[in-house]
Amino acid sequence: MYIKTATFLLCVFLGSVSSCCVNGRYYPRYHLSPPHGWMNDPNGFCYFKGEYHMFYQYNPMSSLEAGIAHWGHAKSKDLCHWKHLDLAIYPDQWYDQTGVFSGSALVENDVMYLYYTGNVNLTDEMPFEGQFQALGISTDGVHVEKYKDNPIMYTPNHQPHIRDPKVWEHDGSYYMVLGNAYDDYTKGQIVMYESSDKINWQEVTILYKSNGSFGYMWECPDLFEIDGKFVLLFSPQGVKSVGDMYQNLYQAGYIVGEFDYDTHSFTILTEFRELDHGHDFYATQTMKDPSGRRIVVAWASTWEYAYPERADGWAGMLTLPRTLTLTKDLRLIQTPIREIDQVFRRRLYSGKASAGKTVALPDKAGKVELKWDTPRNIKVVIESQNECQNVVISYDHEDGTITLDRGGDDAIRRTHWDPRGHLKWTIFIDASSIELSCGDGEVWFTSRFFPEGVVSVRLGEDTCVDKFTVHSIRRTTPDPEAHCRCE
Ligand code: FRU
Repeated sequence: MYIKTATFLLCVFLGSVSSCCVNGRYYPRYHLSPPHGWMNDPNGFCYFKGEYHMFYQYNPMSSLEAGIAHWGHAKSKDLCHWKHLDLAIYPDQWYDQTGVFSGSALVENDVMYLYYTGNVNLTDEMPFEGQFQALGISTDGVHVEKYKDNPIMYTPNHQPHIRDPKVWEHDGSYYMVLGNAYDDYTKGQIVMYESSDKINWQEVTILYKSNGSFGYMWECPDLFEIDGKFVLLFSPQGVKSVGDMYQNLYQAGYIVGEFDYDTHSFTILTEFRELDHGHDFYATQTMKDPSGRRIVVAWASTWEYAYPERADGWAGMLTLPRTLTLTKDLRLIQTPIREIDQVFRRRLYSGKASAGKTVALPDKAGKVELKWDTPRNIKVVIESQNECQNVVISYDHEDGTITLDRGGDDAIRRTHWDPRGHLKWTIFIDASSIELSCGDGEVWFTSRFFPEGVVSVRLGEDTCVDKFTVHSIRRTTPDPEAHCRCE
C-alpha cells in the first residue's frame, strides 16, 4: 500500500512537472513514446472492445534509467493515433516490488487478462531473488486489478531468470512461453506451459534451448502460427557477433518450425534470423488482430546506450507496427500496417531524380520512397545541421549489401539484400528514428539518430532513381504540442 501511494504521488508530481519539461526536439511525431519518463519493451499488445491497447515497460519517475518497471498504457483505434492512459500496473506487492516486468495480454469474453513477471531483487529487506508470473485483470480496458491469488506461478526449477510470459489460447487450452537462463546463467532457453483455466499452469516442454553457443539468457519469447508453420520469436542476450550479424548488444529474431499441440514437439526448420538489421530493435511482441493480421512491434532502442533524449524528459519509443507474413522459403516479411498511410500528407516531391536532389522534411518527419527499374547502386543521405548525425544508406548491387552508417562510434550496420522483385526502398523518418524497409519488406533497418534543425533527404553520388517520392506528415498523436515542447 505504501509503495502504491508513494508511487502515485510521485507520478502526479512528476507528471505535472515533466509535461512541461519534455523537450520535443527528438520526440516522435507518429510513433508511440512515453508521455514522459522511460519506456522499454512493448507489453500486453491486444485488441479489446474495438480498440488496440499497448502497454509498455515504464518508469514514470525518470527518463534517465529503467528504474523499477511499471506498465504504462496507451490505446488507439488505428495503431497510428495513440491516447495515453493512466499507469496500468504498479509494483506494489511483495512479488513485484522491484519491477512489473514484461508480459502479454489474452482477451476473452470482453475481459483482458494481463500476464506479467513480478521481479524480486535481493535487497536489505528482501533476502530473496526470483521471478514470479502474475496476472492482472481488466474489464473496462483502463483499470487493472491484480488477481487475488497472485503470484500464479513460481517455478523453483528455473529461477532466478524466468520471465516475459506470452499467453495464447488454442482449441480450448491455454499456452504460455517464458524466457529463461539455465546452467548458472550461461545458456538461454524457452519453457512452455499449458493450462485449462488460465490460472494453474503445468510445464509441458522446453520448446527450444541453446547449447551454450547462442547467448546466456533468452527474453521476450513469442510462438505463433502462420500458414501452418510456427514462428518462434525471441530476444537472446549474449550472442557473439559473426561477420555483419548480431552487431547489437542484444538481438531480436526468429526461427521457423513445426509444432504439434498434442506432443508439444517443436521441429526446427530454419536457423535463427534477425528480424531487423539496424541498431535499435529489441524485445518484440506480436498480436493477431480481428482481421487475422499478425502484427509485430519492438522497442526501437536498446539497453546500455546513452540516448540524448534522456536529458529531454523522455526515453524510448516503439517501432511502427508491421504486419508479418511468411515466404515459401520460411522468411518473415514485414509490411508497414496499411493504416500508416493516413499519417502522411502532402507530397513534397514525386518524380525521377538523381544525385544531389534534396528535399527538406517539415518537422523532421516524413516518408521517402525510392524505386528503380534496373539493378544499380543507390545512396541516400538523411542530413541535418548536425553533420555528425547524418545517416547514409547505400546499396552495392554487385555484392548485394546494404550499409547504414549513422556516424559516431559503432556507426555501421550491414546486411545482404536479395530483392525478391521490387527494387524499392521505403524510409520512415520520425524526429530521431529511421526505419528502412527494402523491397517488399524482406529486409529492415531500424536505427535512432539525433538530428538538429532541418532534416533533409538527399540522393548521394551516382544515384539515379526512376521514382523519388517524399511525403510530409499530418499532425498525429502523440501530439508534441500536448507535451508543451520547450525547444
Ligand atoms: C527486455 C527485458 C525483459 C524484462 C524487461 C524489464 O528488454 O529485459 O526481459 O521483462 O526488459 O524491463
